[in-house]
Amino acid sequence: MWKYIRKYLPFAVMAVLCMVLEVTMDLLQPEIMSRVVDDGVLGLNNGGVGDLSLVWTLGLQMAGIALVGCLAGSMNNVFTQNTAQNVGNQMRKDCFRRMMRFSFPQMDRFGTGSLVTRVTNDITQVQNMVSQFIRGLVRNSMQMFGSIFFMFCLSRTFGIVVVCAFPVIVGCMALFLRRADPLFTRLQSQLDRINSIMQEDVAGIRVIKACVREVYEKVRFGRANDDLIKTQLQVLVIFAFMNPAVNLLMNAVVVLLLWLGAGEVLRGVTTPGDVMAAVTYTTQLLHGILMLVMLFQSISRGLASWRRVKELLHTEPELRDGPFQGETEVRGQIEFRDVSFAYPGSGQTVLRHIDLTIRPGETVAVMGATGCGKTTLVNLIPRFYDVTEGAVLVDGVDVREYRQGALRAKVSTALQKSELFSLPIEDNIAWGDLTADGEAIRSAARVAQADGFITAAPEGYGTMVAERGMSLSGGQKQRLSIARAVLKPAEILILDDASSALDLKTEADLYAALREQRPDMTKIIIAQRIASVRQADRILILEGGEIIGDGSHEALLASCAAYRDIYDSQMGKDGENDG
Ligand SMILES: Nc1ncnc2c1ncn2[C@@H]1O[C@H](COP(=O)(O)OP(=O)(O)OP(=O)(O)O)[C@@H](O)[C@H]1O
Ligand SMILES: [Mg+2]
Repeated sequence: MWKYIRKYLPFAVMAVLCMVLEVTMDLLQPEIMSRVVDDGVLGLNNGGVGDLSLVWTLGLQMAGIALVGCLAGSMNNVFTQNTAQNVGNQMRKDCFRRMMRFSFPQMDRFGTGSLVTRVTNDITQVQNMVSQFIRGLVRNSMQMFGSIFFMFCLSRTFGIVVVCAFPVIVGCMALFLRRADPLFTRLQSQLDRINSIMQEDVAGIRVIKACVREVYEKVRFGRANDDLIKTQLQVLVIFAFMNPAVNLLMNAVVVLLLWLGAGEVLRGVTTPGDVMAAVTYTTQLLHGILMLVMLFQSISRGLASWRRVKELLHTEPELRDGPFQGETEVRGQIEFRDVSFAYPGSGQTVLRHIDLTIRPGETVAVMGATGCGKTTLVNLIPRFYDVTEGAVLVDGVDVREYRQGALRAKVSTALQKSELFSLPIEDNIAWGDLTADGEAIRSAARVAQADGFITAAPEGYGTMVAERGMSLSGGQKQRLSIARAVLKPAEILILDDASSALDLKTEADLYAALREQRPDMTKIIIAQRIASVRQADRILILEGGEIIGDGSHEALLASCAAYRDIYDSQMGKDGENDG
């Protein structure tokens, strides 16, 4: 945490200085007050004759001191907030940057809900802690110890009373806080849960409605919410008992002081003004302690959050960058050398001993039953996951040796599930290459067969896409994703079932345009339909994590039973639908 505060240290120091000034002003007041009473009103040093002009002078002094205190307080607030907000801001940026470097399994391990809570709510808690700490710790400790000091100045008896009462009060607070501490960690993880349910439900609202699962989801969300409230109430109860308990102790001290003070006044050891000042100091002490309680509450909660933020910040990205910058002679060659793969944390081997070489410029289709590992296979090329065994080479270099940015610049992917952002269509496509101009974007859209529907839209390329592409049809979304992938100046293009929602004619036009406009790109096309793949240079048939067929359409028809089965099932045995 020091790393963050250090950066804004001048602000923090200024805040503390202003605070010291403010509290000093506060502490001076009762002293003057006691002189107003003893000398101004009662005239104790003047044979019982009061002095009105002294009351005026001292009153003005008190007003001036209050004004300086106020100004110092405001400045303290400004500096404190500057520090805390900047610390939070920096932390949020760092968390986000770190998160962006996480591998997919690491993302899964944290979970979306938890990542969102950590970057938002947790950091806000830390921010609160920092500001309360700067404001509160100095203010309240000074107020407390200052009060005790001035009490000693007034009378030794008063001093001894508060010094004895102090550890009792602090001990009582510690007892309560110890019970609250574990609750704060629980509170944050329950917030995680609410966030993740909320996200799933908002994103999946269409499915929820289609399956009439509203009630089920309401109950699920309600339960998570109830859990949160239960913990929150437990915390509140603890503090609800703690504050009056501390108050009670403090008031007992006040009573004790008045009793002792009255005795001393009667014996002539002390003056009524001093007793009044002592009571005021005791209230200041009480105030200091109560504020400190709040401070500890916020620190306790802030620390629980800080642990969670720290966990995120200290998680080392699993995928380590290699030194290789990506300058190669060959461009667009892919090689799998005896590759096996199992998802981290799952024992099941998805790919087994894959040996495969794809030459630059080749178009390779991948087919196979659902869940056989097609997506997994292509995900290894841009190194979304690391192989369990063997090696994947792009342009003759192991993908683990590349700088990740350099590797991914070589590979362009349209994912199975199109991800769009709430930006204009144009910008959604330009995601593939931020430097692209309007003409390049249009040309990519034409290749992806998207130009037609985009220009027909009311605002053409400037049409806003709703969040996650909700305003578009499945096929339109897919074509925008393809356009984005095509725009990226990469040497390898992977289309993972990216044209499944297109009609056969549009799909055929797409592949023809790709062949014509991007002849040098190596293309890997995952598809389920024979019509989508028959033009490819090679078709791979994947089954049970192994390649069981590799050849052109004709060659496979002749040699691969599995391919023939698919062909027959889609085209009809007599080939009546063929073509
Ligand atoms: N993130 C993941 N963690 C664990 N297992 C996974 C993960 N993703 C996929 N799998 C498993 O790996 C296997 C292969 O999945 P993959 O997504 O590669 O199939 P696919 O061939 O692309 O299927 P489809 O045609 O339905 O897209 C499946 O059994 C799946 O359950
Ligand atoms: Mg898939």
